[in-house]
Amino acid sequence: MTRLCVNGETHDLACEDRDSLAGVLRDRLGLTATRIGCQHGSCGACNLLLDGVPVRGCLVPVALAEGQAVTTLEGLRDDPVMIRLREAFTAHHALQCGYCTAGMLVAARDLILRGRATSAAEVRAGLAGQLCRCTGYDGIVAAVLQAAQ
Ligand code: FES
Ligand code: FES
Repeated sequence: MTRLCVNGETHDLACEDRDSLAGVLRDRLGLTATRIGCQHGSCGACNLLLDGVPVRGCLVPVALAEGQAVTTLEGLRDDPVMIRLREAFTAHHALQCGYCTAGMLVAARDLILRGRATSAAEVRAGLAGQLCRCTGYDGIVAAVLQAAQ
């Protein structure tokens, strides 16, 4: 049995220790904001927070998340930075298919909170590990800069 604390709620789940955290969140808890793309740490679609630190959810065995606070995009609905980011992504058309967006938002929020979103170059460098196949990134960078102001 694995005990997970997700978005402030405790869940006891029968799963394999090596199951990916992102998969368990989606398939067992219905928290589908966390996307699964490459499944090997390259795209960033599966970003979530472990004790407030962004991680690739596809690379985290669920057993490692025991005893840590797991936060998904669903748990950041009322977060002030996330509210600003959502508004800015809408204003700048920073998504098309939306597949990358949850991971992009989690990464962008972390950049802003660490004060690393002060220029377009800094945002591009900070989001270099986040892949988007649709937008060309310009709208995303503009949105993050706006939200950071
Ligand atoms: S699905 Fe986890 S990094 Fe791509
Ligand atoms: S909006 Fe489609 S992958 Fe980014």
